[in-house]
Amino acid sequence: MQARAQLPVAVVTGGSRGIGLEICRQLKALGYLVVLGSRDLRRAELAAKELDPEGERVFPCHIEPDNSVNVHQLTDFVREKFGRVDALVNNASTPPDMWALAGTTDLSPVAEALDVNLFGSWRVTQALLPLLRSSPRPRIVNVSSEGGSIALMSGGRPAYSVSKAALNALTRMLAGELYRDGILVNAVCPGWTATEGGGAGGRAGTGAGSRSAAQAAASVVWAVTLPNGGPTGTFTRDGRELPW
Ligand SMILES: NC(=O)c1ccc[n+]([C@@H]2O[C@H](COP(=O)([O-])OP(=O)(O)OC[C@H]3O[C@@H](n4cnc5c(N)ncnc54)[C@H](OP(=O)(O)O)[C@@H]3O)[C@@H](O)[C@H]2O)c1
Repeated sequence: MQARAQLPVAVVTGGSRGIGLEICRQLKALGYLVVLGSRDLRRAELAAKELDPEGERVFPCHIEPDNSVNVHQLTDFVREKFGRVDALVNNASTPPDMWALAGTTDLSPVAEALDVNLFGSWRVTQALLPLLRSSPRPRIVNVSSEGGSIALMSGGRPAYSVSKAALNALTRMLAGELYRDGILVNAVCPGWTATEGGGAGGRAGTGAGSRSAAQAAASVVWAVTLPNGGPTGTFTRDGRELPW
């Protein structure tokens, strides 16, 4: 077995359920040490226990992407425990504001979506960047949505869609800025998936998303496991490019 210090380290936000939990499961199976984040430490502990009863590979962590004090604590935790980060998966997200319209929506859910989906991902990325620079294969994956595709956008779900479009823009900026440092930065839409965020309480067969959380997570893990020199600044699902 590889010595623990040689194993790659991944940080996953919103990892206690849905696609985030599956991303953690798949990364652990690939040999990563996984920091499983949740806004609720108890939920993170229960999820980590489910994936890794021995507590050797999956480490629960209180992560609130929209709280800068907490994000600094996250950096301290990861620096002290592992000394570097090989993959950051910005997965945490507010759910889609299904029936809202841009012309009439209350702006407070829009502000919340931007705070979590855009600024939260941005904040965690900035905080962990020095630890990503210590990795031989650093990757940042922003879990986005086709709903954030400006090319495909018409109307509806304004808070979610605008926040994911902004997350896509951030992905392009970081990819351009970090390219020379060998940090690959990509956005992935996992597809419409049977989770709480995907609608109908995540119950498959109820008209909620048709993909399983495992299929959706595999789309994200593809971008985590790209080789050095691989694509950066892309927006994909299942490794295939989506329109921006
Ligand atoms: N499901 C789909 O059909 C679909 C389609 C396209 C894109 N996506 C994207 O895939 C990712 C995972 O989605 P999912 O379907 O697994 O959703 P989910 O089941 O609702 O899980 C979302 C995660 O984000 C965290 N979260 C929720 N609200 C938050 C808030 N206000 N502040 C901070 N964290 C919050 C939660 O973590 P804690 O409560 O543990 O902190 C939760 O684990 C998201 O980025 C989503 O936009 C999903």
